[in-house]
Amino acid sequence: MPTALPTARPIPGSGPVDTSPISLTPAPGDDLDPIWKAVVPETRARGNDIHLPISLAYAERLCDAFPEADRLLVRVAIQLHDTGWGRVDEERILAEGFTGDWRKAQIRYEHERQGCLIAREVLPPLGYDGEFVRQVCAIIDGHDTRQEAHSLEDALVRDADRLWRFDHAGIALASGWFRMDPALYTDRLEAEIIPELLTAPALAMATADLNRSRALLKTAVIR
Ligand SMILES: [Fe+2]
Ligand SMILES: [Fe+2]
Repeated sequence: MPTALPTARPIPGSGPVDTSPISLTPAPGDDLDPIWKAVVPETRARGNDIHLPISLAYAERLCDAFPEADRLLVRVAIQLHDTGWGRVDEERILAEGFTGDWRKAQIRYEHERQGCLIAREVLPPLGYDGEFVRQVCAIIDGHDTRQEAHSLEDALVRDADRLWRFDHAGIALASGWFRMDPALYTDRLEAEIIPELLTAPALAMATADLNRSRALLKTAVIR
């Protein structure tokens, strides 16, 4: 069940906050493997096979920091949130999805809509009930185009969706989408993405990752 969204910003967590490199804590367990198997074709679009598992690992950490959150809801929603990219025109992803007012591009609404269709397609045969599927879709729908989060779980998914970009793998992949060099892209992360984070644990993780990635990629010199 979704948890009411706290009003404090950033939202403080009550559990442990792990700011170590994300590669040290891959998402544990195999209960989501049947879902992964069901969406392999959709993971081949737009780097989803990198973005989704790394974001899931961050979501697991955020759930540790917010033990009151519905962990399964957060995990399944982050796992499926961008699968809709696999069902939209690939050409339009880069042409429209990352230029101009990219957050409001028609292709963004389309990938959210398709992501909900995929969730409704793959989850029921795997035993997830209608109410759970509805809650997953409520998070997927508008995850990029909506301004505000509707629940704590929604907020955690939104933060996990941003956190992966701070790891060097995220920088390697996403800087190319925006046609930016790593130095410029890490500047953008600091100026635009950090202020969008909703929770204090995500803020701590993003800051630690950004410092590590900048040092690793020598962005102070190579610019
Ligand atoms: Fe998205
Ligand atoms: Fe995403």
